[in-house]
Amino acid sequence: MKRLAILISGRGSNMEVILEAKLPARVVAVISNEAGAKGLAIARAHGVPTTVIDHRGFATRSEFDAALAREIDRHRPDLVVLAGFMRVLTAECVNRYAGRMMNIHPSLLPLFGGLHTHRRALEAGVKVHGATVHFVTPDLDHGPIIIQAAVPVLPGDTEGALAERVLAQEHRIYPQAIRWFCEGRLALTAEGTVRLREPPPTGGALLSPALDM
Ligand code: GRF
Repeated sequence: MKRLAILISGRGSNMEVILEAKLPARVVAVISNEAGAKGLAIARAHGVPTTVIDHRGFATRSEFDAALAREIDRHRPDLVVLAGFMRVLTAECVNRYAGRMMNIHPSLLPLFGGLHTHRRALEAGVKVHGATVHFVTPDLDHGPIIIQAAVPVLPGDTEGALAERVLAQEHRIYPQAIRWFCEGRLALTAEGTVRLREPPPTGGALLSPALDM
């Protein structure tokens, strides 16, 4: 059984699906930088120990990251899972977990790194949007991609409607990526590429709008 530490800042819906996915893993800690994160109660209801480390209590990013790393390491995780964790980590902290830290981002990276991805996708007029699970590297939202899910952008979509459509796919791809890792099928190579043993076949193309001919 692999040991997972999950870092959150808010709602925790990705954390919740990971807790409920019956992975060959044990979630040994949920850590939040926000005391008010809704996900903390969900974690506790699943019997997972939670810790809050409020970034506001630290003078610098490095001091916060050092405290965070101490707390993570205390739980000896095999994998650190960023699930809606809204702090940018220092390169030093990210490098400490090279090949064993994942993030989910609500866009088809490398498009729309950073915040407000759904609004920006609507403004850009893209017809396909989605979500990405990637290994974390110091280059924010640019780590090697493990899996992506694409969804159509529909006429009349609001930011909220699009966010909901993407989130439903996040809830499918994040547990899958973690499962591959826990099964020992997924790794980050020394060259910084993703290796997945026995990848499932890829489905057909998503056309948006579809062809009518
Ligand atoms: C998700 O959309 C995730 O991709 C992004 O922040 C959101 C977190 O949602 N990084 P939740 O806390 O997992 O419900």
